[in-house]
Parts: sequence; structure tokens; C-alpha cells
Amino acid sequence: MNKTFRAALAGLVTSTAMLSAACAEDIKVGLLLPYSGVYAALGQDIDDAFALGLATFGADSGATFEIVREDDEVKPPVGLAKTKKLILQDEVDVMVGVVSSGVLGAIRDTVDGAGVPLIVANAGNDEATGEACSPFITRISFSNQQVNRPMGKWMVDQGVKKVFTIAPDYAAGRQMIDAFTTGFTAAGGEVVGQEWPAFQKTQDFGPFLANAKASGADAVYVFFAGGEAISFVKQYDSFGMKAELPLYGSGFLTSALYVEAQGPAAEGVITALHYVPTLDNPENAAFVAAFKEKTGRIPSEYAVHGYDSARALVEAVKAGATDRETLAAALPKVSFTGPRGELRIDPATNNIVQPIHVYETVAGADGLTQKVLATLPAEADPVNGCAMPAAVN
Ligand code: PHB
Repeated sequence: MNKTFRAALAGLVTSTAMLSAACAEDIKVGLLLPYSGVYAALGQDIDDAFALGLATFGADSGATFEIVREDDEVKPPVGLAKTKKLILQDEVDVMVGVVSSGVLGAIRDTVDGAGVPLIVANAGNDEATGEACSPFITRISFSNQQVNRPMGKWMVDQGVKKVFTIAPDYAAGRQMIDAFTTGFTAAGGEVVGQEWPAFQKTQDFGPFLANAKASGADAVYVFFAGGEAISFVKQYDSFGMKAELPLYGSGFLTSALYVEAQGPAAEGVITALHYVPTLDNPENAAFVAAFKEKTGRIPSEYAVHGYDSARALVEAVKAGATDRETLAAALPKVSFTGPRGELRIDPATNNIVQPIHVYETVAGADGLTQKVLATLPAEADPVNGCAMPAAVN
């Protein structure tokens, strides 16, 4: 190459590099999850799958994603303080996460007021897509009422007439049981007693189980998750309750994340959920294989929330979003076919719309697995007082 040609080529390479540097977006993501406390394993599952989702779908997005992690410790005041830090100090473009409905309730006004988009990757708090909805909050996971609402009628149809309910005494426990109770009683069932053990403080469920046993119920319906779900299911079995009073609940109770820790105590428990790893579709097969290869685990509902949140973020960027305002506008509009099927966000509430799978935990060739008994059709939540303001366009 002669000198002039070499100099021209060098200039071309430099300006191409400068051009692509100018085009490449650097999206700063604040990942707010519990990395300690009763939901720590759930947070890690979301984190692992979020990273997998960014690696799988983000490579050709032209953007780089920088992640700032904060531990909310499943404590609303801690979640609020960490949210302010992520927004004001780290100046994140978007927040992802929140496992507990209590933490979501605590940070809602701050993300809404600051105009920072939040992709909810777990917390089912009904109010966040109801009376406290926000154009900055898009939920990719589920709502508490959505998972539990159809189970009441399904159980009545199976011949269950009298139920005793137990759930931790905080927003998610109350909302899940209320939604179940509404559906169950509307279908002709009767709730004969209820218990609300203190959240994160109850280790011995014995007194609550004794009351359920004495209540005259045909079955028990519960919500527990994480460490509390493991203890509850084991104690239920060791009290000899399972044979007498079949155990039902929302499917977090026997999540793929910790069902092996419950062991045979979980066998025969029937629950409802928006994702089980045994769903038979090509997107789920690819997800299960990739997640297993990365972590050695079978993906749970928490993992699918992380994976789909990453994909939603990437899709928003591919649609041209570059900052808080444009991400907030793009996120509720994303749609793609993922492990749960077609992902659809209801524009009236910014909540996901999806079918609910009733599944039984059964022994399989490689341990416990999820046998789908029924798939109940997708139903958008009622708007529940949400008047969605158009903050951005
Ligand atoms: C919630 O607090 O909204 C919550 C937590 C854990 C779950 C489900 C819902 O598994």
C-alpha cells in the first residue's frame, strides 16, 4: 500500500470507529433485588436469567448494558433508599427487579415521580397495575390476583367445597388469598377459616396447621414463597396433614427453584402458576437448555421473569429507545414470543396478560417435576381504578 492510500484507510477506520461509538447506546440498568433475606434465592434466579437474556438477545442491539446491583433485603425502607440511590446517584436509565409486593408499594411513588421506567420482574402487587398504576411501571411477571383468581372456580369444579387459607401477613399474601376467595365463593365454595402468620418471622407453622385441621375444611389453600414455602410444605407433610387435607395454593409454593429442597413432602400438591418449566414449546426448550447450561438448574418462574425482562429491555432499545423517557414509552409496547408463549402487555394497566397453568408436583425420572392438569385462559385484570396517564409518547 502506498502512503497516501494507507493514510486514507486509517482515516476511514478511525471515523467508522467514532461513528459506531456514537451510535452504540450505553444503557445503565439498576437491578434492585433481594440478595439477602427470605427471598434471596429468588433474587439470584432473576439475576442469573436477566444476564442470560441480555447475552442471548442483546448482542445485536447496538447497545451495551451496564448493571448496577442493589440488595433490597426484602425490606420496604431499604428498597426505597436503594431506589433513590440508583436514580439520583447512579443515574440509571431503567430499573429492573423487585420481588416483594411490599417493596414495590414502597418505591412506586419515587419511580413514578422521577420518571424512571421500572420493569417489574416479580412483585405481584395488584395496586401497581391498578389504582396506583403508572406509565413508568411495566410488569413482565404476573399480578397477585391473576395467578389466584381462576383457581377458586377450578377447585369447586373438582369437588372441593370448604377451604381453610393460610398466607403471610403482607400485601402479597392478602391479595393472593383475597383473589382466590372471591373466585372460590362466587363459584359456590366456602372459606371456613383463615390464618395470617407474621411475614418473615414465622418458623413454626404448627398452631396454624392445628387450626386448619380442626376447621372442617376439605382442603387447605396457601401462598408461601422462598424459605417460608420450603418450611411450610415440609411441616404440612410431617404433621401428617397431606393425606387428610389436600394442599393447594399459588404455584410459588412448589417452585422449580426449591421443590427439590422440599422433597417428597411436595408430591401431590396442586397449585396454579403462569409458568412451569415443563411447558412444551420451542422457545421454552431453548430457554431451559440455556439456563441449565449456565447455572446447572432448571429455570423457575423467577428465572423466566428475569429472562423476559432482559428481552423486553432489548426489544425497547431495538425499537429506538435510548433514555428514561423513550424507554418508558417503548417498554409497555414490546411484544415477542417467549417461553410462556406470546408476551402481551395490557395498555390499560401495563400488566402482562397470560394463561394460568394448574399443575401437580409429581415424581419424575430426574426428581420432582410439574404435571400440567389444566391451562386456564388468559384474562386481563380488571383496571381496578387505573387511569393510565400518557406521560410520554
Ligand atoms: C410478592 O411479594 O409479590 C411475591 C413474592 C414472592 C413470590 C410471589 C409474589 O413468589
